[in-house]
Amino acid sequence: MLKNIKFREFKVDDLPFLVNISNLIYSDYPTTIEELEHWFSNYDHTKYLMKKYVATNEQDEVVAYSYYYHEPILYHPHKFSLELEVHPEWQKQGIGSHFYNLLLKEWITLNTLVIRTDAREDHKDSLSFIINRGFKEKRRSWESRLNVQEFVLDDFAQAVSQIQQHGIEITTLAEEVRKSETAYEKLYEHHTTTMGDMPLPDTYTPVSYEEFFKRVIKSPNLLPEAFFIAKAGELYVGESYLQASKADPTQPYQGLTAVRREFRGKGIATALKIKVIEFAQKNNYKTIKTSNDSENSSMLGINQRLGFVRQPAWIEFEKEFV
Ligand SMILES: CC(C)(COP(=O)(O)OP(=O)(O)OC[C@H]1O[C@@H](n2cnc3c(N)ncnc32)[C@H](O)[C@@H]1OP(=O)(O)O)[C@@H](O)C(=O)NCCC(=O)NCCS
Repeated sequence: MLKNIKFREFKVDDLPFLVNISNLIYSDYPTTIEELEHWFSNYDHTKYLMKKYVATNEQDEVVAYSYYYHEPILYHPHKFSLELEVHPEWQKQGIGSHFYNLLLKEWITLNTLVIRTDAREDHKDSLSFIINRGFKEKRRSWESRLNVQEFVLDDFAQAVSQIQQHGIEITTLAEEVRKSETAYEKLYEHHTTTMGDMPLPDTYTPVSYEEFFKRVIKSPNLLPEAFFIAKAGELYVGESYLQASKADPTQPYQGLTAVRREFRGKGIATALKIKVIEFAQKNNYKTIKTSNDSENSSMLGINQRLGFVRQPAWIEFEKEFV
């Protein structure tokens, strides 16, 4: 069977196949051509390396794909993140192993130190494939979901008014951009300052303003009206936002929730998240999906109090090369 499988570099025409395979494997997180295209075409190839490959069958249909890349916010020249997905009907026939062995040769040539990948704890085939190839578990992320329409806003109204009494105003990115020419720069400053405080698998490397603009502001998933910002005077002190799911608009993802260090412990993150949920409720969304590092106890606590329900964990693995 494997003798009829060919491996080659990815071409733009392959995108629909990749989206189809991804959606079959990760049906809980459907994606679209537009989203994947945005990720690939806005990746800064002048700074980072991303290599993309596919495996095709006799009919020249893509049956598997893989790409490995420098994660911009964790940039290290010899550390990469890996995606490797085989169409469910083509699994357990040796394609994944062969693909992996081809990549392994490249990683050795590149003097790779670490390859990172992840799998959900209930995806048993993925876990055994990863573990059998020398990857070790490093950390876990808890996914949790909120049933938006069951959320009782009145129960949390005080949390929002309380921070307003302390002089904190909550606004949206849409509103800020209407009022100020520097809104995006201010958001970039807040975003990059606070993001480094999240538990991350390696040293945080902030991206440039241009990259932030392309990846976050120009993202097809940006919802400026659902991007909430807390302000103390003109200073941005908190952010929390929804990212649209293009494949299933009723089930958006929670983006970063972060509060400037000096302003923590005042209920700002909770108030921002309540505004996010209020937006979701008004727009008839069903579910908000969020993911938090298992070490991020304060964010996990907030989500639990708001009624988010825990789902299977995502396990993050690393393979170290000696
Ligand atoms: C993980 C994944 C890529 C494996 O792809 P695959 O094509 O099924 O991989 P293979 O067929 O080469 O290997 C899977 C297992 O089946 C075995 N196998 C290979 N050919 C086989 C055959 N003809 N019959 C039965 N088993 C076979 C392999 O030996 C391997 O077992 P091992 O880990 O003990 O060596 C695939 O399950 C997948 O796409 N999962 C979702 C994405 C993911 O988690 N990717 C990994 C992280 S990037």
